[in-house]
Amino acid sequence: MLTLNTNSKSIAHEASAESNWEPKIIAFLCNWCSYAGADLAGVSRIQYPPNIRIVRVPCSGRINPYFIIKSLQSGWDGVLVSGCHPGDCHYISGNLLARRRFSILKDILDFIGIEKGRVNFTWVSAAEGEAFSKIVTKVVETVKELGPNKIFKSGDT
Ligand code: FES
Repeated sequence: MLTLNTNSKSIAHEASAESNWEPKIIAFLCNWCSYAGADLAGVSRIQYPPNIRIVRVPCSGRINPYFIIKSLQSGWDGVLVSGCHPGDCHYISGNLLARRRFSILKDILDFIGIEKGRVNFTWVSAAEGEAFSKIVTKVVETVKELGPNKIFKSGDT
C-alpha cells in the first residue's frame, strides 16, 4: 500500500514537472558577430525567451562536434551554434568549415535518434539584434514541440 502511494505521488510529480517544462538551450556564439548581435538585442531591449545560456567562442569554426554531443548528453534540450555570415568570418573560413561539419553532424545525430531540430546552426551579424531574437524564439518553439531531451536519460551512455 505504501509503495502504491509513493508511485502515484511520483507519477503526479512527473506529470506536473512535464507540464511546467521549459526547454534549456545552450548557444555557442562567435565573439565577433553573433555574440555582438545578442548583445545588441540586449542593449536594444529586444525581447527573446530566457531559455538560452550563451557560451562565447572565438569563432563558430572553434566548435568541435563533441561539444554538441556532450551538451545533449549533459541534459541540454537543444543546441544553437551561430557565427558570422559567409564572407564575414574574422578567421576567413571558420564559419564555412563549421557549416559543413554541422551538416554532417546533424545527419549522424538523426541516424542515432536525436531529432534534427535540437541542433541549429545560423548566421547572425553584430547588427542583427532583431534577427537574433527571432532565431532564439524559433529555436525555443521548435525544441518545445520536440519535448524534453530524453536521449541520454536511460543511463546507457
Ligand atoms: S569569427 Fe565569427 S564565425 Fe568565425
